[in-house]
Amino acid sequence: MLLRVPPPPPSLRIRASSSQPSQASFPTASYSTTDEALLSKGFLLRRTPQGLNLDHLNSVFVSVGFPRRDTAKIELALQHTDAMLWVECGKTGKPVAFARATGDGVFNAIIWDVVVDPKFQSLGLGKAVMERLIEDLQRKGICNIALYSEPRVLGFYRPLGFVSDPDGIRGMVFVRKQRNKK
Ligand SMILES: CC(C)(COP(=O)(O)OP(=O)(O)OC[C@H]1O[C@@H](n2cnc3c(N)ncnc32)[C@H](O)[C@@H]1OP(=O)(O)O)[C@@H](O)C(=O)NCCC(=O)NCCS
Repeated sequence: MLLRVPPPPPSLRIRASSSQPSQASFPTASYSTTDEALLSKGFLLRRTPQGLNLDHLNSVFVSVGFPRRDTAKIELALQHTDAMLWVECGKTGKPVAFARATGDGVFNAIIWDVVVDPKFQSLGLGKAVMERLIEDLQRKGICNIALYSEPRVLGFYRPLGFVSDPDGIRGMVFVRKQRNKK
């Protein structure tokens, strides 16, 4: 399990967003790719399940090796999701990148289902989705953000601020013991 350590203070962060002053009550976040730049490439950022075709999302999961899931269960999972980000391909309307977080809405969140359609990988979409999901959680005051990472993806998460086993903390998962059949 990876935990996200607090980022440096805003004064040390590079602003990659528009030079226009933010209209929001929060300072403009420092995303590596701005919303405008993504839009100019035909990618639309979405923060709700509205318009998200779950069969298409399932296909993206399967295309990266995740198991195909019951779409009714995905729908239920999304109802219990605190924050989500997905990228819609403007041309097709299909989801091409996705990530979501569950938690208690106040202190803790765990990020799940980080995925980018293989045809759209290495374009910065995974990073764009993760940066915004983290920012959205932090704006809610959630500072304990964790995720499970496959070993081959550790290098993707580290620059986003995630560290393995901080202070020796180890993640543990429940594994049901197999009963010996006689
Ligand atoms: C991991 C994944 C989400 C990355 O998405 P992506 O859109 O291809 O990544 P990006 O283009 O946003 O890459 C952002 C940065 O991470 C780096 N990066 C991407 N994948 C990486 C990996 N597996 N290991 C190390 N670095 C990686 C990129 O080189 C890039 O570096 P830069 O900012 O210095 O240019 C995507 O490859 C994916 O869906 N993989 C299959 C599903 C999966 O493994 N999900 C995670 C489960 S724990």
